[in-house]
Amino acid sequence: MRSFPPGFLWGAATSGHQIEGNNVNSDYWQREYAAGSEVPEVSGDACDSFHRYPEDIELLAGLGLTSYRFGVEWSRIEPERGHVSVAMLDHYRRMVECCQAYGITPMVTLNHFTVPRWMDALGGWHHRDAAELFGRFTESALPIVRDGVEWVCTINEPNIIACREGAADPGAEPVAYGMARPHRKVSAELARAHRMAREVLATVPGVRSGWTVATQAIHAVPGCEEQAAEYSYPLEEYFLEAARGDDFVGVQAYTRTFVDRTGALPPPAGAETTLTGWEYFPQALAIGVRNAWKVTAGTPVVVTENGIATADDPRRIDYTRDALAGLHDTIAEGVDVRGYYHWSALDNYEWGRWSPTFGLIAVDRATFQRTVKPSAKWLGEVARANAL
Ligand code: BGC
Repeated sequence: MRSFPPGFLWGAATSGHQIEGNNVNSDYWQREYAAGSEVPEVSGDACDSFHRYPEDIELLAGLGLTSYRFGVEWSRIEPERGHVSVAMLDHYRRMVECCQAYGITPMVTLNHFTVPRWMDALGGWHHRDAAELFGRFTESALPIVRDGVEWVCTINEPNIIACREGAADPGAEPVAYGMARPHRKVSAELARAHRMAREVLATVPGVRSGWTVATQAIHAVPGCEEQAAEYSYPLEEYFLEAARGDDFVGVQAYTRTFVDRTGALPPPAGAETTLTGWEYFPQALAIGVRNAWKVTAGTPVVVTENGIATADDPRRIDYTRDALAGLHDTIAEGVDVRGYYHWSALDNYEWGRWSPTFGLIAVDRATFQRTVKPSAKWLGEVARANAL
């Protein structure tokens, strides 16, 4: 039996745009529905969690999980620049209260990739005042977290946002596979936005804030150690360094990346891959956690996302069991890990596609009916035992 520390948080994670449905005022919705859009599938009603969140939360609590990480949508809260919707603040506050009613610890993400259309029109994270705009939004969102919300994630995967912006850059250096190089100015603006949001959140007693980094478990091809380090720093360590001294750092891990002289490589020939095309590699979690602990100089870690896109639910259990065994090793080594959130609670809208199913719970796209998968029950048992 591998026991986890007392009070360890066991949760599942989601984001607003991926589950709520009809997030019509966001930049991503606009991209999805634009004429000639490069986005293959639209989000539409998504999982209708905008209305069905009480059912989602009740299911998670019933499974034995103790926490729920969900996102709020900036484009709903501030639909026009400077106009804050009281009704939407109330909506998200009700989500917090619903968690509390079921004895579930809420973890709130302020930004999970999407921004309001007006923010996008200003240039999004390229805008020189993007950090101030995000800081002001954080202030507007305080009524959601003011009473009894302990955990707040400022920006989800700033390193992935920076890569996305890097790819959109006309002068972007191409990389061999996968991601573009992060856009330096955007990276710096995101770091500034994070600091501003943390300052605002620090005015609320009891709130712990941090950001969540997509760790890459970089593996150097022998002889390419220097190139791998150069590839890794602006993508991962830069963002971990920016988390030094925060209340926590969120670690998100899915797979590993091999790097040679040309950049990142596709998964090795013959490797098992998942529905996102990523290598099946549950050991990525422990690698990401150790790197975060080292680079942040001992900032408490929360695993804010870890999971696998698969239609083979028993394989999800295998993956999670191995990832958790690795996580337990890091705790035994002395890493201060506060919780584990599985990605994702629901089969959700995977940014342009519906086929990569990450959920512990299946969702019928026509009726929105939820069906708990065996992996959800399994994780719930682990949570109840607080042991693997
Ligand atoms: C993101 C999620 C996404 C998941 C799987 C993370 O990068 O935070 O929004 O669905 O990974 O791709």
